[in-house]
Amino acid sequence: AASDFIAPSILSADFAKLGEEVDNVLASGADIVHFDVMDNHYVPNLTIGPLVCEALRKHGVTAPIDVHLMVKPVDRIVGDFAAAGATYITFHPEASEHIDRTLQLIKSEGCKAGLVFNPATPLDTLEYVLDKIDMILLMSVNPGFGGQGFIPSALAKLQQVRELIDTMGHPIRLEIDGGVKVENIAEIKAAGADTFVSGSGIFSKPNAADPHRYDSIIKQM
Ligand code: DX5
Ligand code: ZN
Repeated sequence: AASDFIAPSILSADFAKLGEEVDNVLASGADIVHFDVMDNHYVPNLTIGPLVCEALRKHGVTAPIDVHLMVKPVDRIVGDFAAAGATYITFHPEASEHIDRTLQLIKSEGCKAGLVFNPATPLDTLEYVLDKIDMILLMSVNPGFGGQGFIPSALAKLQQVRELIDTMGHPIRLEIDGGVKVENIAEIKAAGADTFVSGSGIFSKPNAADPHRYDSIIKQM
């Protein structure tokens, strides 16, 4: 549907050609760029920071950039990502000492704010901050790596959050992250997601020099 967003996770892109990779997925119909920030502390992996986000903006990327923070602490990196051109900034509630304050900080920096829930993290903080968030991201893998399998219990959680969002007066995007592929996206959409992160499901089918090499995958999503 027109309101659905495909969000390629650049974690699985070729980092030596990142600008080109991002141009290609956007030209192939992707809607937003999913940007995974890992700190080797909150999660056991180390990836990219504000400099890379800024480099994509300087390269000419105008699509929304969806910064998924897997870092602890959260607050001190928020301003740098806002300055670097982030559109959405999402964080894991257990990584912030003061969730409401972090949400306010993200909004005060001019970005859209969201909370991320791991597969076994309960949703109980949501009810207190629903009026302050623009996105809810449900993890369907444990965070830290691309290429893991979709955890099926995420489907029931999606349905639960979809019902909650539909009772709200303002739009909140419902994003799913981990193990999303052409083969399972219909089922995930039926459970209520409207924003689909896919890393290995998109980037693991490279076809050398063809600038449209991601077309057929993204169009099937
Ligand atoms: C995992 C990241 C995901 C990851 C998804 O911690 O948050 O965004 O890149 O990769 P796939 O789609 O390969 O599961
Ligand atoms: Zn992610």
